[in-house]
Amino acid sequence: MRDVPPNIVVLSGSANPMLAMALARELGLSLGQCAIKRFPDGEKHVEVDPREVEGRDVVFVQPTPNGASEAAFELLLAADACRSGGASSVAAVVPYFGYARQDRRKHDGEALGARVAAKALGAARLDLVVTVDVHGETAEASLDVPTEQVSAAPVLAAALEREIARDSVVVAPDLGAARLAREYARILRLPFAVVQKLRTSATDVIVEHVAGDVRGLRPVIVDDIIATGGTIVAATRALRAEGCVDEMTVAATHGVFAPGAFERLHDARIRRFFVTDTIATSAPAESVAVVSIAPLLATCVRRFSKRRLGVQYRSHP
Ligand code: R5P
Repeated sequence: MRDVPPNIVVLSGSANPMLAMALARELGLSLGQCAIKRFPDGEKHVEVDPREVEGRDVVFVQPTPNGASEAAFELLLAADACRSGGASSVAAVVPYFGYARQDRRKHDGEALGARVAAKALGAARLDLVVTVDVHGETAEASLDVPTEQVSAAPVLAAALEREIARDSVVVAPDLGAARLAREYARILRLPFAVVQKLRTSATDVIVEHVAGDVRGLRPVIVDDIIATGGTIVAATRALRAEGCVDEMTVAATHGVFAPGAFERLHDARIRRFFVTDTIATSAPAESVAVVSIAPLLATCVRRFSKRRLGVQYRSHP
């Protein structure tokens, strides 16, 4: 029998309703109503039905990808709407956390986007923020609310396991992905290698070195994000130069696929991409397999629900 968490209502922002629906379905619920309109001047307006949220624990699903500022502001409006409708608590599922890649100041006078985005979210007084493979540590560390951080690695590795050959090698396309690659390698019981890259512009990357043996092996490149595709393209060049088998697979948690990415990646001759549905994607289905993160998110929501019930039980014995 399905374990339906009591007292939870799942609502969606406009960034990824499909994922919100999948999450609600996983929980044995249907998606609640949240009216999001745009005024003629472009401002957003969010309204929930108090009969639906009053006394309930609301889970609001809203990744903040390209156009992150608008999606994030929608989330702030939704949190306010839920509170004014009498919600007992509001948890935000932000499976892709926009601005997290702006995690370092390279010089004075530069904004630290990851911290600004986290602080803005903190203003919503959320009871929980659930994130998936947030880039770097700055955003997560600056979030001044309880967080649950999950990784898509087990979900994507399970999908990869059905398709990849045993003579594969997991590859981190940069040092930042090394920890993720080690996790994939552990789950898939494969060796791993790390590409050392240097970013020269927002779209261009050069590779300095490949650490680890890839000769005669089939690379499975894993990363948190594919945005312009520059990182993946540079990694494929370096791996070919190192003598790998020219049959590469890529797995990334977030398929951002910025404009021009598919064209750039086409030249890299990747056999197949695996991404999750943290971001609504327009990726061509023949080359990109989308694996749902909804079951993993449902586990987080169930945990949250149990904690909430504990809180209510203690305060109303
Ligand atoms: C960077 O450190 C990230 O982990 C990704 O490698 C990067 O964001 C991918 O961006 P792009 O596809 O634009 O190279």
